[in-house]
Amino acid sequence: MAKKAVALLLFLVLVVAAEAHHPEAHDGGRHKDAAAAPTHLHFYFHDTVSGKSPTAVRVLDPPSSSSPMTMFGMVNVMDDPLTEGPEQESNPVGRAQGLYMGSDQAKLGFLQAMNLVFTSGDFNGSTLALLGRNCPLDAVRELPVVGGTGAFRFARGYAQLRTHWLDFRTGDATVEYDVYVMH
Ligand SMILES: *[C@@H]1O[C@H](CO)[C@@H](O)[C@H](O)[C@H]1NC(C)=O
Repeated sequence: MAKKAVALLLFLVLVVAAEAHHPEAHDGGRHKDAAAAPTHLHFYFHDTVSGKSPTAVRVLDPPSSSSPMTMFGMVNVMDDPLTEGPEQESNPVGRAQGLYMGSDQAKLGFLQAMNLVFTSGDFNGSTLALLGRNCPLDAVRELPVVGGTGAFRFARGYAQLRTHWLDFRTGDATVEYDVYVMH
């Protein structure tokens, strides 16, 4: 009897220990190990501020006290298309929805807060939330990925932005995105 009780206790301890080591077993193993390689997403972002159907609109002009070089105080809201390739007509992969605002008094530097809403491929229906500093005239900008939904629940990571094309006259731009996410 005592032997049976000890055996049962030992069995329970082993089961509990095994569960503790494999918490992902509870969500069907979909949640990847933290040590696994991040998912790399590559696409292009098109910010059109000019013309009849802009995808980014000015909701606040910078005040007259701001230097035109910094746009400090400006607020733009965007619903910008994301595409596979650098051309606007390239396959759509999603939208970048949110805002960027001039928040640096010394240079052109935005606080950018947005959701990347994926509309095709493996991540269709999932979103990533990004919040960070974007100085659009720098060669490479890095924005933190602060969260996500769907396939990107528990997401963390970063995005690297590189301007692919910029029209200094209108401000329209195409930006290459490399996003690395653990999720
Ligand atoms: C993305 O998902 C939506 C909703 O399930 C679906 O209607 C749409 O066809 C999908 N798009 C692509 C490109 O797979």
